[in-house]
Amino acid sequence: MLDLATTKVHDEQRQGESFAPFKEDPNAYNKLFYIESYGCQMNFADSEVVAAILNKEGFGATRKVEEADLIFINTCSIREKAEQTVRKRLTDFKKLKTARPGTLIGVLGCMAERLKSKFLEEEKLVDIVVGPDAYRSLPRLVDEANEGQKSVNVLLSREETYADIAPVRLNSNGISAFVSIMRGCNNMCSFCVVPFTRGRERSRDAESIVQECRDLFENGYKEVTLLGQNVDSYHYIPKDGNESDAVSFAKLLEKVALIAPELRVRFSTSHPKDITDEVLHTMAAYENICKCIHLPVQSGSTRILQLMNRTYTREWYIKKVDRIREILPDCSITSDIIAGFCTEEEQDHQDTLSVMDYSRYDLSYMFFYSERPGTLAQRRYKDDVPLELKKQRLQEIIEKQNQLSLENYKKDIGRTFKVLIDGDSKRSAANWVGRNSQNKVVVFPKNGAHKKGDYVMVQINDCTQATLFGTII
Ligand code: 5AD
Ligand code: SF4
Repeated sequence: MLDLATTKVHDEQRQGESFAPFKEDPNAYNKLFYIESYGCQMNFADSEVVAAILNKEGFGATRKVEEADLIFINTCSIREKAEQTVRKRLTDFKKLKTARPGTLIGVLGCMAERLKSKFLEEEKLVDIVVGPDAYRSLPRLVDEANEGQKSVNVLLSREETYADIAPVRLNSNGISAFVSIMRGCNNMCSFCVVPFTRGRERSRDAESIVQECRDLFENGYKEVTLLGQNVDSYHYIPKDGNESDAVSFAKLLEKVALIAPELRVRFSTSHPKDITDEVLHTMAAYENICKCIHLPVQSGSTRILQLMNRTYTREWYIKKVDRIREILPDCSITSDIIAGFCTEEEQDHQDTLSVMDYSRYDLSYMFFYSERPGTLAQRRYKDDVPLELKKQRLQEIIEKQNQLSLENYKKDIGRTFKVLIDGDSKRSAANWVGRNSQNKVVVFPKNGAHKKGDYVMVQINDCTQATLFGTII
């Protein structure tokens, strides 16, 4: 439980947070669907593709699960706790179904892929099971389930990118949107279930990405986050083109940045082995490419990194950090860290703490290792660090991160940042909340002259370890 409870609330890992969209007027449809998403940003983006597919078939979205004809849960398998949360939600939904027998319940995403028809056969909790590459078949599966058939499609694809589907934005603030640029992962980090649940890596048509971002900008959006498990290996060759026509991630970033200077561009996630100088120079060349890199280290120990199959060493990682600081002196770096991976000793743990010190992360997502069925680590290594020790090390990592964040945020006091206004601050409608290029949250009093989606210059006068406070100048 600790891993989730202590994970900083941030878009990247919205484990357990749910949302229910209400995009269209429900009266315009005679059937309603409700969708709840867990896990990474990619899952949230996928739910928007699912919403588009269902909308086209005449289903409207509802925020009220009790009135839905179709209930979907888009699931995450990354840690055991995420799966437990989903199971609990499914039992809640099952109760609703007893009250409204016609309701269909569907499991989407990574857990659907991992457990396949086990959900239908053994657990009898659900009617429809659909993996991340099979969302186009949802309308057919819904029809089949309505006829009482078992509806499962967990086929993974080498091509599917949903490039032609314009996502229906769910629970969006109308300012920031996620845009999926690739799917799957070829990396095979030994702890990770993603390559098994999301399949092989494939890049989406570059033009369709640029078009989606342009449409968003024309509809008032001011920020896009390009999403992939490993964005630096984005590589798209246009149809009938050859290698010389290939679009790299750096080129894609540039194309999106050129849409408009007022459109901010972010991206996630970067792999330390793949991030290139070309990407860093492209970031430096465009003011609207935000200066923030999510560069998960996972561990600071070369021995553990090898067992994790991360394919870089501690020294390689440190060099990447140096390179970022050299080319982008004002860039924020964030990380993912796992405590207590198989065979981890105290010295390995100390190496993690010291790489954190070196990298001076502004934020980290911190977890203790959770063995996942079918992964390389599960097959090859013993999960031999006792839970108590994992939790203790995680706690030390969290404390280190809290201290680093506070130090970093304090350094911003007195500085002035360009901030994109996201909306009212949660605490008080007298204040705006927005983010600077480094993705730090900034809270400041309204002065009556601005609206959501505007850029303002804010001078920082105070902070906590997760928020900057200031005034518009
Ligand atoms: N146990 C703990 N954390 C994990 N992650 C991925 N797999 C596991 C696991 N089995 C973490 C990694 C990854 C992030 C998305 O989740 O840090 O970068
Ligand atoms: Fe998992 Fe590694 Fe791929 Fe990230 S890069 S999704 S951690 S296999």
